[in-house]
Amino acid sequence: MSLYGYTAADAATNCICDLRSDTLTKPSAGMREAMMAAPLGDDVYGEDPTVTRLEQELAARLGKDAAVFFPTGTQSNLAAVMAHCGRGDEMISGDRYHLYCDEAAGASVLAGVSMVPVTTSEDGGLDPDRIAAAIKMDDPHYARSRLLSLENSVGGRVVPLKRIEAGVHVARDAGLAVHLDGARLFNAITALGCDAATFAAPFDTISVCLSKGLGTPAGSVLVGPDALMGQIRRNRKILGGAMRQSGVLAAAGLYALEHHVPELVSDHARAARLAEALRATGIGEVSSQTNMVFLTPKAGDHARLIGHMAQAGIKIGGQSPAIRMVLHRDVDDGALDSAIAAFRSFTSS
Ligand SMILES: Cc1ncc(COP(=O)(O)O)c(C=O)c1O
Repeated sequence: MSLYGYTAADAATNCICDLRSDTLTKPSAGMREAMMAAPLGDDVYGEDPTVTRLEQELAARLGKDAAVFFPTGTQSNLAAVMAHCGRGDEMISGDRYHLYCDEAAGASVLAGVSMVPVTTSEDGGLDPDRIAAAIKMDDPHYARSRLLSLENSVGGRVVPLKRIEAGVHVARDAGLAVHLDGARLFNAITALGCDAATFAAPFDTISVCLSKGLGTPAGSVLVGPDALMGQIRRNRKILGGAMRQSGVLAAAGLYALEHHVPELVSDHARAARLAEALRATGIGEVSSQTNMVFLTPKAGDHARLIGHMAQAGIKIGGQSPAIRMVLHRDVDDGALDSAIAAFRSFTSS
């Protein structure tokens, strides 16, 4: 078993439906054609027109000055942290947020930034009082609090805009910058029904992933103010993320913005359908928002359920106690029907 619940050999065989993550999406046929046709240049020279077009498109959609294209969300988050904080500075984040939990402590290891985790509330947000309590006074004994780093969506949950604004207000009052890990920003916007610029307004910088539900093979974009772009581009170089003919990947991103963003609503509808079907079986506790479903099976059923589903060719997350299932563009209605049938056969066996 790997961290993701299956060996590489398992991953290749007997799979009807893979619900482990939206990162598993493969480029669609139209996306592959767009990648083939993309005009290219050397982006380190600033000469790849497709990368430039993607950066301009995302900056415009999010109402920010400019953007820089990165190979991954982890690197784009780290480049943002490095743009806001120096060594010995401190960043406040949620104790369940990806930047704090799942990026190998890169902010501390590579940027010398200490990370202060604040308890993440059930809705995925951070309480303004907890943020305020985490901000340190300016004293030579203490690290300097410089950055509040938020996330939305969080484990599929969309943090309401009012709640985000309350936390940002506390940070601004204390002179902190604010970053958003918007890996699934378009899922959040789809669920809220708001426009991207309204969603983006409270933040200085935002990292957006193209390689999750949007279906590109790689790529994230960091948007922000002109004043930070030189430093962000420099940080990308320091971190080894400056790429050459990366317009091949940027073309996938442009295609996703035009064709795949409007289809996210189908992933959300399928997640709701799966959640409803699971509740009807009485298999355990179920929660769902945007494209994710979490299932806590009844006591003692966890390993047996994962085994049963694997036998039926359905891959689900190996997390415990709640198993995560993510709907994405490579799971169609037929694959979802098979998954639901396998869950039903588990409860009736
Ligand atoms: C919320 C969140 N932020 C950031 C990342 C990092 O993205 P990448 O895998 O491209 O480094 C992920 C990846 O799953 C994520 O879920």
